[in-house]
Amino acid sequence: MTTLIFLLLSGIPAALTVTHSLKYFYTASSGVPSFPSYVSVGFVNDVQISYCDSNINKNIPKQDWMNNVSSEHPNYWEEETLTCREKQKIFKKNINIAKQRFNHTGVHVFQQMYGCEWDDETGEVRGYDQIGYDGEDLIILDPWTHQWIAPKPQADITIQKWDHDRNALELEKSYLTQTCAEWLQKYVNYGRSSMMRTDLPSVSFLQKSPSSVVSCLATGFYPNRAEMFWRKDGKEIHDGVDKGEILPNNDGTFQMSVYINLSSVPPEDWPKYECVFQLSGVNADVIHRPEKRRILTNKCK
Ligand SMILES: *[C@@H]1O[C@H](CO)[C@@H](O)[C@H](O)[C@H]1NC(C)=O
Ligand SMILES: *[C@@H]1O[C@H](CO)[C@@H](O)[C@H](O)[C@H]1NC(C)=O
Ligand SMILES: *[C@@H]1O[C@H](CO)[C@@H](O)[C@H](O)[C@H]1NC(C)=O
Repeated sequence: MTTLIFLLLSGIPAALTVTHSLKYFYTASSGVPSFPSYVSVGFVNDVQISYCDSNINKNIPKQDWMNNVSSEHPNYWEEETLTCREKQKIFKKNINIAKQRFNHTGVHVFQQMYGCEWDDETGEVRGYDQIGYDGEDLIILDPWTHQWIAPKPQADITIQKWDHDRNALELEKSYLTQTCAEWLQKYVNYGRSSMMRTDLPSVSFLQKSPSSVVSCLATGFYPNRAEMFWRKDGKEIHDGVDKGEILPNNDGTFQMSVYINLSSVPPEDWPKYECVFQLSGVNADVIHRPEKRRILTNKCK
């Protein structure tokens, strides 16, 4: 077992987080087997903080530090549960209205995504609110004018109603520009020590068949600000290289892959290649070499 894992010092500056985000996703679905008809999830800086669905009917913390919110707001989780139950009713109505407007039956999905971003240096706050149906935008709040926009004609009736409801518009605006950022700051304070940590990933190589691309997978890293690339003889290469997105794992860490086509590279030249992972805030690169014996394949031996 001589896995070549080594850390090298490099000159990448430690990036400081200045932009924080609070994001909520509500999803109602009809007719999706073994999936709850309503799910709500909350995220702070892309880390899941809360979860509720129509089966458990309870809003629960997904981070230990989210329990601490109750020390300041004793009824926080009860209130979040009530909100979840109320939203569930509204969303079940909304998905039916949408299905009628589109003359649809069967399996459909109705979603809302809203939240805010707060720059802790400038204090600037940007809120957004979007409603989607079957994965496409249905209604969007214009973040500058705070007016509703309907990319689909089926939502015209709804936004005409909403645009005349001054009261609701003002509430929406004050939530997205003030309340949201106030809660976000609170959450960031409780989660600060957990969210300031850095976890380096474990790295593995995968290749479906001898002719397919080699994927270098880094998983278990935190935060989700990272770079990954391939290097040959110490120089970054782009030819035949493909980069995947940073994706969340279930445990609050992240994963990412970068792919390379080595099919025309003779095996003796493979050691010239390195997969490099860089985590924001950490001055050491995680470097691995795609040695043949380290590559996992689907092929039976
Ligand atoms: C709605 O769909 C049904 C069946 O798919 C069709 O018979 C009907 O004409 C549609 N109605 C409208 C208003 O499009
Ligand atoms: C959160 O609560 C735990 C246990 O009650 C406590 O030890 C910890 O210091 C609290 N953390 C914050 C950030 O308030
Ligand atoms: C890899 O590159 C070779 C040419 O060097 C090409 O023939 C092959 O299709 C590429 N494979 C993939 C999976 O892109």
